Amino acid sequence: MKKLSIFIFILIYFGCSNQKEKSNNVLVNHVARQLEYATEIAEPLRDSILTSPRTIKNGKLKLVPSRDWTSGFFPGNLWMLYELTGETKWKDFALDYTLPLKKEQWNKGTHDLGFMMFCSFGKAYQFTKNEEYKNILIQSAKSLATRFNPKVGCIRSWDHNSDKWDFPVIIDNMMNLELLLWAFNETGEDYLKNIAITHAQITIKNHFRDDYSSYHVIDYNPETGEVQKKQTHQGFSDESAWARGQAWGLYGFTMMYRETGMKEFLIQAEKIAGFILSQPGIKEGKVPYWDFNAPNIPDEPYDASAGAIITAALYELGDYSEHGETYIKVANKLFATLSSDKFLAPVGENEGFILKHSTGHLPGNSEIDVPLVYADYYFLESIIKKQNMEKSK
Ligand code: GLY
Repeated sequence: MKKLSIFIFILIYFGCSNQKEKSNNVLVNHVARQLEYATEIAEPLRDSILTSPRTIKNGKLKLVPSRDWTSGFFPGNLWMLYELTGETKWKDFALDYTLPLKKEQWNKGTHDLGFMMFCSFGKAYQFTKNEEYKNILIQSAKSLATRFNPKVGCIRSWDHNSDKWDFPVIIDNMMNLELLLWAFNETGEDYLKNIAITHAQITIKNHFRDDYSSYHVIDYNPETGEVQKKQTHQGFSDESAWARGQAWGLYGFTMMYRETGMKEFLIQAEKIAGFILSQPGIKEGKVPYWDFNAPNIPDEPYDASAGAIITAALYELGDYSEHGETYIKVANKLFATLSSDKFLAPVGENEGFILKHSTGHLPGNSEIDVPLVYADYYFLESIIKKQNMEKSK
């Protein structure tokens, strides 16, 4: 009897893990075929300026130049597909979409160098160990660091709308700190790490409300460092919780804990997770609408990019936190929703993007209920994190 139960246990256990691997393989295969299609339609549209797919505009694939904040995501997607499949052709494609971004290492006019360069050259270096890519990343970090104002204690986010803000810092900026911490680890240049830590600490101080939701934009006085305004740009209202902003905060502080080991960042990530998980439907795996306080929910557009960023962040935070089990459960549910027919585009449709239903900038009447390349990026990252988690069990 005992032998029979052990046999049944082994059968069920290996049956289940085999099943898991099979469904992961089906998804990776789906994604690979879709990105194959993406490269087929992007290739003839690429030129010396337009290099990276970003979204669909007026029914057509929209490519952007290397200076666009989203330029690093498509190459990053190809690198992640290389990681998932081990097929050299994806490495070749990834490199081909990475190299046009090289000149951005000198760009001091954007806080988004982290997104642009770490998602592209960061992965290129990870998989090739080519010293040239390492030097490009170090230069990129140094360019980004020039935007730091010691009076404010933050990196300046935007240069546009100078009639509206003197020194705007947006919650999204947390994501770009990873490049600085990576460069510190490679070079030992302390100031890069100090900038990242100070920026994150000042963000904790000024960007969050009592419920740990965050404002989108904080405008500082660059001479005194005082907070002048707390506003939104892409959210519903100054006091609302723009979904992607909450997602950037969650991911950003999780990453800061990973890179520094500083407990205050773990605590902040947990508090943000607490806010996000308290929003209707999230614990059940519902993908967020574009703003948690959008006035006409459920008749509002989704933001699958926010859903994918939250999923990737929760898989990682699940590893660090005592609430890990809850976070992983929610991540698995969100992942299942993103992988369902509602969000996962059929192969050969959606202009090659993996996910449908993201929202870029609703108040600007731009990119509403469309695919966005960064939703795909964090979905791919979630696939990898989920697979690694399952393998380590
Ligand atoms: N970082 C810009 C955005 O999330 O739309």
